[in-house]
Amino acid sequence: MTISYGKQSIDSQDIRYVVKSLKSNYLTQGPLVKEFEKELTKNFKCKFSTVLSNASSALFLIGKILKWKKGDLIAVPPITFISSINSVEHCGAKPLFIDINLDDYCMDPFQLEKELEKDKKKRIKAAIITDYGGQPAQWKKFHQLKKKYNITLINDNCHAMGSSIQFNKGYATKYADFATLSFHPVKAITTGEGGAILTNNKIMNEKATLLREHGIVRNNSKHWDYKVFNLGYNFRLPDLNCALGISQLKKLNKFTIRRIEISQIYDNLFNDKEKFRTPKKIKNTINTYHLYPLLINLKKIKKTKEKIIKEFLKYKIKLQVHYIPVNTQPFYKRKYGFNKNNYKNSSLFFKSCISLPIYYDLKETEINHIKKICKKVFKI
Ligand SMILES: Cc1ncc(COP(=O)(O)O)c(C=O)c1O
Repeated sequence: MTISYGKQSIDSQDIRYVVKSLKSNYLTQGPLVKEFEKELTKNFKCKFSTVLSNASSALFLIGKILKWKKGDLIAVPPITFISSINSVEHCGAKPLFIDINLDDYCMDPFQLEKELEKDKKKRIKAAIITDYGGQPAQWKKFHQLKKKYNITLINDNCHAMGSSIQFNKGYATKYADFATLSFHPVKAITTGEGGAILTNNKIMNEKATLLREHGIVRNNSKHWDYKVFNLGYNFRLPDLNCALGISQLKKLNKFTIRRIEISQIYDNLFNDKEKFRTPKKIKNTINTYHLYPLLINLKKIKKTKEKIIKEFLKYKIKLQVHYIPVNTQPFYKRKYGFNKNNYKNSSLFFKSCISLPIYYDLKETEINHIKKICKKVFKI
């Protein structure tokens, strides 16, 4: 079996929960939806949550709720998953790429501030900031910018479930207006496919729930009667998936501890600072290592990134690259063009970064195999 960079962990408890839901009266639109939402709010210390078919629909829905339109600019980092930016496009607004910094690999708040200062027409309405790999971004600084320039903050928290700032697991909605979660199998917990919006804003949450289900407003006294005032979607998360989510959430702590243990193994292995750059420990934050990004000094190693990836594959280790900068993707390049000099850190990061395998079910024998191959490929 090839070892990938990420994978789900499913045990007998998960199977029991899903089977129980299969035997119940509701496969979808049943009581587990609210139960999963309640558990998410408890875990991530926010007031409200809406579970959805995936995080891409969560990001899109936020744009719809906020009524992003043509002429609006939404700040985004180049190093993130494509759907974080696609959500902006789908709403008719324009992404404004802001470079990352090389400490936390997240959007650089000082670069964002420069753009906000220049933006005399107040076209920048919001920023979607990814807590890359599980490392919280500089949220205190972003929060100051939110207050000063009156922008909406969205924490694309898909990598960072369980991470914290000053031991606060509710940091995502403390600093941002919305946080989005993904329950794709490679993420910290899974529902197969699935996502959520977290917020402390009651009205925004009601809007999200409404648009998730076609915009249908039911009449409480006549079960068959309903009205539609807003154009909605079917972005529901079935009870079956919620059952898995409820069970998985109980194990988030255990999953996180193991990811951190594996990260320490890699930190020790790649301690030659001339050849490698491992994720920096950032004061007052806990990184939950959805990814373990390793930056390689390719000149010192004397191999191309492609060669390194191919060599690992020969030994059944499938490394990944997170991410090809979104602004360089043909769709975005064609539509907006881009100036390489504006995204120096993102380019530098992409050129030398690989993601090593890191997940709860990674066995000791597999870790030893990875270590052995790293030593062989990198001659360390
Ligand atoms: C940072 C980030 N944002 C958004 C998404 C989209 O999540 P989903 O697959 O649940 O739509 C992902 C998933 O890979 C992601 O990593």
